[in-house]
Amino acid sequence: MKLSILLSSLLLATVSAHPGGHHEERAVSSQSSHPTYPTNTTLAPNWWNDIVPYGGINTFAHLPHVFCLSQPSETFDIALIGAPFDTATSYRPGARFGPRALRAGSQRQIPAASYNALTGVNPYASWAKITDCGDIPLTSFSSELALAQMTSAFEEIMTHKTPSGGSPLLVTLGGDHSIILGALRAVNKIHGQVAVLHFDAHLDTWDPRFYVGTPFTHGTMLNLAGREGLISNNSNVHAGLRTALVGMGDYRDDTEQGWLRIGSEDIDDLGAKGVVEKIVQRLKGKKVYLSFDIDTLDPAVAPGTGTPEVGGWTMREVKRILRGITTAEDVELVGMDIVEVAPAYDNQGEITALAGAQVVFEVLSGYVKKGELAGKKAA
Ligand SMILES: *[C@@H]1O[C@H](CO)[C@@H](O)[C@H](O)[C@H]1NC(C)=O
Ligand SMILES: *[C@@H]1O[C@H](CO)[C@@H](O)[C@H](O)[C@H]1NC(C)=O
Repeated sequence: MKLSILLSSLLLATVSAHPGGHHEERAVSSQSSHPTYPTNTTLAPNWWNDIVPYGGINTFAHLPHVFCLSQPSETFDIALIGAPFDTATSYRPGARFGPRALRAGSQRQIPAASYNALTGVNPYASWAKITDCGDIPLTSFSSELALAQMTSAFEEIMTHKTPSGGSPLLVTLGGDHSIILGALRAVNKIHGQVAVLHFDAHLDTWDPRFYVGTPFTHGTMLNLAGREGLISNNSNVHAGLRTALVGMGDYRDDTEQGWLRIGSEDIDDLGAKGVVEKIVQRLKGKKVYLSFDIDTLDPAVAPGTGTPEVGGWTMREVKRILRGITTAEDVELVGMDIVEVAPAYDNQGEITALAGAQVVFEVLSGYVKKGELAGKKAA
């Protein structure tokens, strides 16, 4: 795919990125030293290879699509894969439409014009080969069967190689949060135990015994992951917590499972910088799986989700925290997901989907930047 862009749509992107900003119209100067740009309707050869943000079939950020599950020899540095699943939810369902919404929310991320000035990288036009692998065809009739399906699919993706023979970064577009269990199984097979950095309003380490006969839910899967030995028992982090509890025993259980808790209000005392420092301190030297539940954000920022909790972080705070963590020297990212985007509860401005797509952009920016700093170059 040719990574270019129509000048007109680049202008559109620039102008709309600065609403009410400094792009005031001025009378065109008549000074002859200023070049003029007359309208030119002569078309360049193959002009149709250009990308417009409002056109095309929605792959994530207009990246190339390959259905990776049936193409075992396909290589990529980063695999984006959708897990459209929501039958393990406890409140409002609808996250099965998350992958679709996230792809739609990513359409203004155009590979030729996605330079992240704060990270100093364009994640889509650097060394990393990034492929939108499509969606895992998960059943909606049995959560247990779906878990077997997603585990198999994630494991299949993780058997793929990068162009230089390594293991790819797994990026999952959820889906309700339970999909992390399948992803962690697959990542564990390649990397062994990982530390989980869990952005969420909720603990998700709840004891499966509370859910008699149906242990696999979007509130228990981190507990299950611990029992399966997939994740570290002393270096995981929750960030953005603010849910109500059954009682303080929930925190004791959580601590026993190896979790550090950063509450949403902690940012008032620590600042975004302090939150980053606390997380990096905890994750230093670890292989890290970053899981981002969209309900970390305040419902004013991200209403389109299944179990909203008021009093959350803003996207501006989250961008800074993600940048700080993903560019930290001694934190090795091996997988990520963005989960619980349920577009039926989003607003007409698609703000939840936009925020979710931005989370992916920020994390990939940090990941690709670190690769650049380590000497990786475009093939
Ligand atoms: C008009 O556009 C065509 C196609 O991009 C280009 O080849 C040509 O040089 C342009 N002409 C002028 C006068 O800028
Ligand atoms: C963590 O797991 C190791 C074995 O993998 C075990 O020796 C250790 O006691 C565990 N720590 C806690 C706090 O459970």
